[in-house]
Formats: sequence, C-alpha cells, structure tokens
Amino acid sequence: MSDPHDFFGEQIAASYDDDADARFAVAHLALESGFLAELAAPDEQSGGRALEFAIGTGRVALPLAARGVEVWGIDLSEAMVAQLRAKPGGADIPVELGDFSTALAGVGMAGEFDLVYLVFNTIGNAAGQEAQVATFANAARHLRVGGCFVVETHIPGVLTAQHDHRWQVFSHTDEHHGIDEYDPVTQLMWSHHYTRIEDGTYRRNSVPFRYVWPAELDLMARLAGLRLRERWEWWDRTPFTAASESHVSVWEKE
Ligand SMILES: C[S@@+](CC[C@H](N)C(=O)[O-])C[C@H]1O[C@@H](n2cnc3c(N)ncnc32)[C@H](O)[C@@H]1O
Repeated sequence: MSDPHDFFGEQIAASYDDDADARFAVAHLALESGFLAELAAPDEQSGGRALEFAIGTGRVALPLAARGVEVWGIDLSEAMVAQLRAKPGGADIPVELGDFSTALAGVGMAGEFDLVYLVFNTIGNAAGQEAQVATFANAARHLRVGGCFVVETHIPGVLTAQHDHRWQVFSHTDEHHGIDEYDPVTQLMWSHHYTRIEDGTYRRNSVPFRYVWPAELDLMARLAGLRLRERWEWWDRTPFTAASESHVSVWEKE
C-alpha cells in the first residue's frame, strides 16, 4: 500500500467551500449533522465523541460540533485543515494530519469513539482495495463496542463501462469540462477536470477514486468486525433500492 498523494493543495482548498453541490446547503448540513448526531450520542446525557475521516474544511464537522458532539478529525491535506482552522470553532477540533486508513486520531484514542464517519464519496480516495480494507479496520480500531462507522458514497454508475466504453463526460461547458475514465480491472476511476482560468486556458486536475459496490464494502466491514445496521439512499432515510445512485451505510462494531 503506497502513501496516498495529497490532491487537495492550496488552490483546491481555497475554493473548496464555494462548491455548488447541494451538500454545502445549510438545510442539507442540518439533515446530515442531525443523522450523525443521533448515532454519536451514547445516551441522553452526552452528545458523544465522533471522528471524521477526511475532515477537510469542516463542512460537516462544524455543524456536528455545534450539536454538542465532541468532534475529532484526520486529514492528509494541511491546506484543507488550515481552512478549517480559520473558521469559528475550527481551531478547537483536534485534527491529526495523516492517512485515514492508518493514522490514529491521537495517543490513547483507540476504542474511544462512538462514531466514525467518512462522507462525500471520499472512501474512493483510498484508491485501492487494500487501502479501503485498511480504512474499515482503522475505523473499527477507533470505535468502542456498539459504536458505528458511517460511509456516504455513490453507487458506481459504470455497468456499461467495459473495455469499449471507458469515458463518461459529466460536464461540458465553456468554464468546465469533466470526464470520468474507468478501468473495470482495478475498479479505478480517474476524474479529469479541465477548469478555465483567467487567461482563457484550462487547468487540468485529475484525481483517482476506487469505485466500490455496497456488497464489497459490507465484506470489508465484516473483515473489520463490523456488521451492517442500516443502509439508506440518502441522509433523509430514503429507502435504498435497486434504483438508488448513492448510499449512506451504517456498520456497527460487534
Ligand atoms: C471531498 S473532500 C471531503 C471533505 C469533508 N469530509 C467534506 O465532506 O466536505 C476530501 C478530503 O479527503 C482528504 N483525503 C483524501 N484522501 C485521504 C486519505 N487517504 N487520508 C486522509 N485524508 C484524505 C482530502 O485531503 C480532502 O480534505
């Protein structure tokens, strides 16, 4: 398992929170942090302790902390964490700079968390099966018995992506061209973004993701001593069906 590359440098981090994705809306964050806060609270007296793998700029961590949950984080990118630190309350969240598949949140923190979560398709940034298996093991290592690991990620939309159909254009405007490139052998998907910059030329940013179906994640969870407790299509608990394009899955430590 090689060291992961940091794809979230200064330039990406500076504009990360400007994303038009619905996940950045205040109403969505209330929904998502509410879902996570329910799982984090071990009893009515305590908000519980949660660890975000890939905490980034604190998009989810800050609203979750505002609900009384003690939030910790792990992230690879100093630039993303600097953005978190600059926000109100951001400096109070302990963050370990490191790889979420191996790093410990802090000395003595194994077994100390009620909840570990990894959202926004970021399980795919662990860009190999070995790294994903290690990520589940690392989540289990941080959890107390009965604690939960939550992953939110998309269902791979690549059933037609065979050897003759490996590129999908997902954005095509003057400002931005986006092409996903699939390799069904390794389950690696390179997401290529060409973004127009001031001088009219395009800047390319290519990021690898390992796409993975729910059944394989369940198997990784079993290897880590976790069992599936709930699976929804989305944070509002829309039932998960064959037509679902995303899932929010909750595995419990046995
Ligand atoms: C799409 S952002 C998600 C940030 C935040 N979780 C959110 O939902 O807004 C992906 C984040 O994952 C981090 N990341 C990617 N691979 C990582 C790894 N192997 N270990 C730790 N952090 C990683 C990046 O540095 C970046 O901050």
